[in-house]
Amino acid sequence: MLEFKNVFKSFHNEEETIDVLKNISFRMETGEFVAIIGPSGSGKSTLLGVAAGLDKPDTGIVSLDGIDLTKQNESKLADIRADQIGFIFQNFQLLPGLNAIENIGIPLYLKSSLTEKEILKKAESILESVSMSHRATHFPKQLSGGEEQRIAIARSFVNDPKIIFADEPTANLDYKNSKTILDLLLYRNKKQGTTLVVVTHDPDVAKLADRVLEMKDGEIISDSKNGLKKSKNQSPSNTKKSISTTSKTTTKQKQVVKPTKKVSR
Ligand SMILES: Nc1ncnc2c1ncn2[C@@H]1O[C@H](COP(=O)(O)OP(=O)(O)OP(=O)(O)O)[C@@H](O)[C@H]1O
Ligand SMILES: [Mg+2]
Repeated sequence: MLEFKNVFKSFHNEEETIDVLKNISFRMETGEFVAIIGPSGSGKSTLLGVAAGLDKPDTGIVSLDGIDLTKQNESKLADIRADQIGFIFQNFQLLPGLNAIENIGIPLYLKSSLTEKEILKKAESILESVSMSHRATHFPKQLSGGEEQRIAIARSFVNDPKIIFADEPTANLDYKNSKTILDLLLYRNKKQGTTLVVVTHDPDVAKLADRVLEMKDGEIISDSKNGLKKSKNQSPSNTKKSISTTSKTTTKQKQVVKPTKKVSR
């Protein structure tokens, strides 16, 4: 349902051109949970932005359910994002002038069919699912990092997307907050069939995925699924890392955990 074909992207400044995505091709099926790992600067966030239609590649095809995102204008892309995509940014990107409940409602405000009342009702129920009802009217600067993260996650759920892209959703969180966030994402993936693409540095998060794509210097250097691995330019150290990432995935680890209603502070 999500397919990259020969995708290239570079950033240019006055002195140099940085090739960030170099001939990326892969296909992801509906309902898959895919982790993207790799060193800082390897192109993970760029790939996620391109996959969600937030950014355009220089060349190549990015197809979501058969629609090539690279061929759509901004207005059509905004519609696709509002209807089908949830995105959790690496640095949250909450709007500072809006309180928690209003931030969660943003994707719904972009959908003109809903009334203000309907939007607030939906946002409130999602707020409760991330145990944040007690902070509904707080502004981002009045929230802790973990609380901001939970609001960002709630915002990505509010339009019931069929695919969620999460960029380091558990970075900078303590164990308890990480677990809450992961449980919520896993619940969406396993119970509601939402496709999940998670960029992570955390091996514990990658272990939970059905499949792990490893990036290095703008390329996918390995693709591991259920212990089977396809690799490109594979070095022995990468092989070891990649195999261990998936081979340790047990049925127990993949069990669905319902989102907790407990408030974590
Ligand atoms: N808008 C931009 N202009 C210029 N260079 C950019 C831009 N965005 C990203 N880059 C460069 O592209 C490369 C890949 O960046 P990207 O954010 O995709 O990496 P990443 O794998 O997500 O890293 P991290 O793990 O640190 O988040 C980096 O070298 C970065 O400096
Ligand atoms: Mg990044």
